[in-house]
Amino acid sequence: MDASALGNELSEILHTEAELKQRLSELARDIEADYGDQPPLLVGVLKGAVMVMADLARELRFQAEMDWMAVSSYGTGTKSSGVVRILKDLDADLTDRAVLIVEDIIDSGLTLSWLKENLLTRGAKSVKICTMLRKPDALKVDIDVEYVGFDIPNEFVVGYGLDYAEKYRNLRDVAILAPHVYS
Ligand code: IMP
Ligand code: MG
Repeated sequence: MDASALGNELSEILHTEAELKQRLSELARDIEADYGDQPPLLVGVLKGAVMVMADLARELRFQAEMDWMAVSSYGTGTKSSGVVRILKDLDADLTDRAVLIVEDIIDSGLTLSWLKENLLTRGAKSVKICTMLRKPDALKVDIDVEYVGFDIPNEFVVGYGLDYAEKYRNLRDVAILAPHVYS
C-alpha cells in the first residue's frame, strides 16, 4: 500500500521503500563480512519483522535459515509495557548456534534485552541484533545493537511491518502516524 492511499492518517514519511531497501543491502554486506563462512540463524520477531526479514534474507549472499518467535510487549496502545510473554516459540535448537535476531524497531529496548538473554540461556554461541529502526531517545535499557538501519525520532511510526492496532503493516514506507488517529 502506498502512503498516498492513507490521506491525512500519516503526518510525515520518514523513510521511503527505496531508502529502506538501500540501507538493508548495506547491512547485508556488513553481516556477510562479520559472519564469514559461519552464517547465523536468523530469528525474526513476529509480526513486525516480517518485511525486514523477507528483504534482508533475500539480500544476503549465503543460505539463510530462518526461524520465528512471537512475543508480546504491547497491547493495542502505543507505549511499551515492559512485560514480555512468548506467544510462539522457536522450532530450532539453539545449542552452539550463532543467532541473529531480526527486528523491526527498538523502542524502549525492553523486549530485545529480554529476548537476547532468553536465547543465550538456551545455549546459543552468540546472539546479535539487527533492527531496521531504533528510537535512541526512548531507550530504557543499555543494549548492544550490532546492525541498525536508521535511528528515528521518538514518535509512533507505522509501515514496513509496523502496526497500530494491526493496521498499516503493509504500508511500503515508514511514516509517523498522525496523533489524531490514536488520541
Ligand atoms: P520495546 O520493547 O519498547 O523496544 O518495543 C518493542 C515492540 O514495540 C516493537 O518490536 C514493536 O512491535 C513495538 N513498537 C515500538 N515502537 C513502535 C512504533 O513506533 N510503532 C509501532 N510499533 C512499535
Ligand atoms: Mg516487533
